[in-house]
Amino acid sequence: MKRPVIVLENIQKTYGSGDSAVSAIKEANVEIYSGETVALLGPSGSGKTTLITMIGCITEPSFGRLSLNNEVVYDGKWLVDDTRKVRREQIGFIFQSHNLIPFLNVIENVTLVSQMNGVPTREATKKGKELLEYLGVGDKADKMPSQLSGGQSQRVAIARSLANNPTIILADEPTAALDGERALSVMELLKKLAHEQNVAVVVVTHDERMLPLFDRILRVEDGRINEQLADFE
Ligand SMILES: Nc1ncnc2c1ncn2[C@@H]1O[C@H](COP(=O)(O)OP(=O)(O)OP(=O)(O)O)[C@@H](O)[C@H]1O
Ligand SMILES: [Mg+2]
Repeated sequence: MKRPVIVLENIQKTYGSGDSAVSAIKEANVEIYSGETVALLGPSGSGKTTLITMIGCITEPSFGRLSLNNEVVYDGKWLVDDTRKVRREQIGFIFQSHNLIPFLNVIENVTLVSQMNGVPTREATKKGKELLEYLGVGDKADKMPSQLSGGQSQRVAIARSLANNPTIILADEPTAALDGERALSVMELLKKLAHEQNVAVVVVTHDERMLPLFDRILRVEDGRINEQLADFE
């Protein structure tokens, strides 16, 4: 069943105040559904990272209302005690660079959040290994991040983002550090996840070649969001 898992109502973000104030998101009214892949496309400085980090409860909006999974998490102020908990339980975040913890091995990186959520180690490890297999890096579980290629690291980062069974995956240029072919296969994986596991996937991308892989494209232009009507398929 399709249901809106992310709802932004007149969300705005201004950084700083007075003469130095920057209006990064002027007005965002967006609904994103479970099982769909949405691209955020737009020029540098247009507000894409600001938007996706607000959805991820990392950046505090300045105004408006944000709901995740039918719970209002922000309405002029945070309405949840701990935004990190929302993130840990509902959201998988994939960054431009993989952000793996260098002194933990691959499986430890993948299971860290589950363990913080109280999942027993054995169970977390079993699930983590399944995810690594699914992403084609099952043989890397005991390696250190420094022993992986860029594409492998990003697959591990995706496995990590999935370990807590998120309903929402947010990715800020997840393929920026990868060559064309690997970038495409990572994006195809995210699409498969959305469609097979009914996860909402929101991806910031600059890469026009990826666009056919998305169900919807939102153009971010000077802090405003416009839906681009699909001209493919
Ligand atoms: N922490 C901050 N403090 C002040 N201004 C900021 C901050 N973060 C972003 N901005 C400003 O907000 C605007 C939007 O920035 P944002 O990072 O969201 O853009 P972006 O679309 O992600 O750009 P890029 O494609 O280069 O990553 C820019 O003008 C930027 O300079
Ligand atoms: Mg950005």
